[in-house]
Amino acid sequence: MEKIQSAIAKARAQRDSQTAAPAAAAQRTVEQAAPLAATPQASDAAWDALPSADVSLRRLRAQRIVTLDRNREAAEFDKLRTRMLQQMQANNWRRVAITSPGPTSGKSTIVLNLGFSLSRQSRSRTVICEMDLRRPSLKKICGLKTERDFVEVVNGNAPFVDHGLRLRPNLAIGAAQSPVMMPAELLQDAKLGAILNDMEATYDPTVMMFDMPPFQISDDMMAFADKVDCVMIVAAAEKTKMPELDACEREIANVTNVLGVVLNKCRYESVDSQYEYYG
Ligand SMILES: Nc1ncnc2c1ncn2[C@@H]1O[C@H](COP(=O)(O)OP(=O)(O)OP(=O)(O)O)[C@@H](O)[C@H]1O
Ligand SMILES: [Mg+2]
Repeated sequence: MEKIQSAIAKARAQRDSQTAAPAAAAQRTVEQAAPLAATPQASDAAWDALPSADVSLRRLRAQRIVTLDRNREAAEFDKLRTRMLQQMQANNWRRVAITSPGPTSGKSTIVLNLGFSLSRQSRSRTVICEMDLRRPSLKKICGLKTERDFVEVVNGNAPFVDHGLRLRPNLAIGAAQSPVMMPAELLQDAKLGAILNDMEATYDPTVMMFDMPPFQISDDMMAFADKVDCVMIVAAAEKTKMPELDACEREIANVTNVLGVVLNKCRYESVDSQYEYYG
């Protein structure tokens, strides 16, 4: 762990010295970043109109969602949530995409854990959007029994109220039913930018989290990068290789802001945690 931590720091220092202003230039445009917000009453009504999902807490726990209530395991995610929020609010960012160099590093698990952790802060509002349109997994992980399909929203066929669900009063999710053809084209489309702006204006979320596919297997993350403020990268301890992580971080930093790297699945835990975060 020490090794990967110092390697990340070294790679980042090198990258920063090579590029004068790595990501600052790559902001969402003013028009994209500042949609007209709904009035507080209108956004309350929009949240009220989203149906509640019937979720089994037992199933969620079995899927490693540990942040449903305050507990020792949740505390690690609560720390990650706080650091994420602090960084995002300091920069006036609302949208964060979560990716990893390779597959099965724990992205979707982390997105949901952060979502439930955020939901325990009653004044926050979080919207989770499934953007892994190649291998959607949120419906399965949450055990959602629903025909609602976030792909209909992404395609511009229906508003979020028709396909979103609430996992908690202040935690909404858009989960896809099945993979789509040519996801990168969809993710790149300016039409999707307008749809997300509209969602942001309607629901006035504190944070919008986008569960992405692995970086290496497609150009989906790069295609979508202009629609988010920042990206969190998840690395799997003892699986993600340093050059892969470095390449992923470098390429993302060329187009948007890297929020930080989360080292997941740590076998040798530093304190009592399976997660390490380098912001
Ligand atoms: N900290 C952890 N320790 C052990 N197993 C974990 C941890 N985090 C996630 N997992 C498990 O790893 C598997 C993959 O997790 P998840 O689906 O969240 O990864 P992913 O990065 O979203 O995968 P994909 O690339 O397929 O989208 C799941 O079985 C999950 O329960
Ligand atoms: Mg996933």
